[in-house]
Amino acid sequence: MNITVFLGAPGSGKGTQAKRLAERLGFVHLSTGDMLRAAIQKGTDVGKRAKATIDRGELVSDSIMIELIQNVLSELPKAKVILDGFPRTVPQAQALDQNASTKVNKAISFHVDAQKLVERLTGRRICEKCGEPFHVKFMPSKVAGVCDKCGGKLIQRADDSEDVVVTRLDVYQKQTSPLLNYYKDQESLFQVEADAPVDTVQNDLTKILS
Ligand code: AP5
Repeated sequence: MNITVFLGAPGSGKGTQAKRLAERLGFVHLSTGDMLRAAIQKGTDVGKRAKATIDRGELVSDSIMIELIQNVLSELPKAKVILDGFPRTVPQAQALDQNASTKVNKAISFHVDAQKLVERLTGRRICEKCGEPFHVKFMPSKVAGVCDKCGGKLIQRADDSEDVVVTRLDVYQKQTSPLLNYYKDQESLFQVEADAPVDTVQNDLTKILS
């Protein structure tokens, strides 16, 4: 398996880029946030256990997340995979490293100035059907409130309210940013300036992934 990890604060553009690059470069895109939101919608056990934690902007437990991702990866032995939103803690990264076939090839850090992240997140709208992300100012849909891709209704994520966003950014600093040094030490860390326009970021990522 060939695994690339997208690392970055909430709102840094991981999902936007992963969706585009997966289609263009033949990667399987696995977003743990999307998986959890689907589980909540379906009312599964995992969804029920995770909902309140996600709504508060905190991280779901490592044990739930590791089991979730290992189950999916075990079905994709030869795939090229972009992991978007996993790992998010050092124990999650160590769980990938424990199995030679799920060792991370590249970890790409998305760098965006902190003050821009709040505006990106509070203005984000996602399609309730296909999950495609838009932004009321930076990436508006052609028809207001309607997904360009599938015609679904655009909604605001419950955890994109300003107070929850502040918690999520704090959680990122405390629990996820140590992974930058973790992958730097493994010499697998790359960085993109994710403040740039979407197409520029996409080109920079394509060079790293090719
Ligand atoms: P998750 O869904 O993974 O949320 P996140 O990491 O907080 O990331 P986001 O989806 O908010 O941001 P993004 O970087 O994908 O940005 P996007 O491309 O949408 O996780 C949600 C929750 O699930 C977590 O809080 C946690 O509770 C739980 N969870 C998930 N995984 C977990 C794990 N492994 N362990 C424990 N808990 C876990 O872009 C944001 C906005 O900016 C959009 O509106 C977009 O249109 C716009 N935009 C994108 N790029 C640009 C650009 N270049 N210029 C201008 N605007 C842009």
